[in-house]
Amino acid sequence: MAKTNSTVVPHHVAIVMDGNGRWATRRFLPRIAGHKQGVSALNRCVQACMERGIGVLTVFAFSSENWNRPPEEVSGLMELLGLSLAREVPSLKANGVQLHFVGDRQRLSDKFRAGLTQAEQATEGNQRLVLNVCFNYGGRWDIAQAARKLAAEGQEITEMALDRALALAHVPDPDLVIRTGGELRISNFLLWQAAYSEFHFSDKLWPDFDDAALDEAIAVYRSRERRFGQTSAQLAPESAGDSTMKAA
Ligand code: FPP
Repeated sequence: MAKTNSTVVPHHVAIVMDGNGRWATRRFLPRIAGHKQGVSALNRCVQACMERGIGVLTVFAFSSENWNRPPEEVSGLMELLGLSLAREVPSLKANGVQLHFVGDRQRLSDKFRAGLTQAEQATEGNQRLVLNVCFNYGGRWDIAQAARKLAAEGQEITEMALDRALALAHVPDPDLVIRTGGELRISNFLLWQAAYSEFHFSDKLWPDFDDAALDEAIAVYRSRERRFGQTSAQLAPESAGDSTMKAA
């Protein structure tokens, strides 16, 4: 019989938090109101992940392509991140969350960059949950910046060297990638790291993504057989669901 992850909680969950704009538009509210609800949904999700023993949560908050949105939405999202940091960092710190911002910081203002660094430093000793907030992030940007780094150091570009130079080198690859909002796309998220992730697409808009929706995603993950390029028959009982295992 096929071996599944039936008893395993995914160690690393990554989420494309899609649907904030539609959530707001359906209520005749400005899109930024949906993003504010999105922050509340993220807070709930962080709590739910900790309660379920998930070790790493990576979320897509602002993509390299999101600069092309209307200027008022872009500035609204920047302001929201600043406000959310000021409001949430003390409780993230108290709750054992280690915060990382993953993405290209060059385009951000000095003040903004300093805020991200301060938030990371304030939570760096925490061990309960690693929260990676992908901000001005794109999977293609990440692969290109890693390759540039290796080239500048005169290193050979191998899979292992690239893996170590990527912006998410501090965590194992995601076991489960969730996208809310009903779209079936990866949208330049974790292009390298999701090579062997399980995918779950939820029709729920991100502000409506609740504990039950997370549990459903985990249940779907548990029903999957992770083969990492092997056959079912080859899988040793202890190999399924091992998040540190790389592609075979
Ligand atoms: C996609 O929904 C969502 C975003 C581009 C932003 C995600 C941000 C949050 C959930 C808030 C957390 C933010 C910070 C700053 C930490 P969409 O706007 O594309 O929705 P739509 O597809 O319905 O238009």
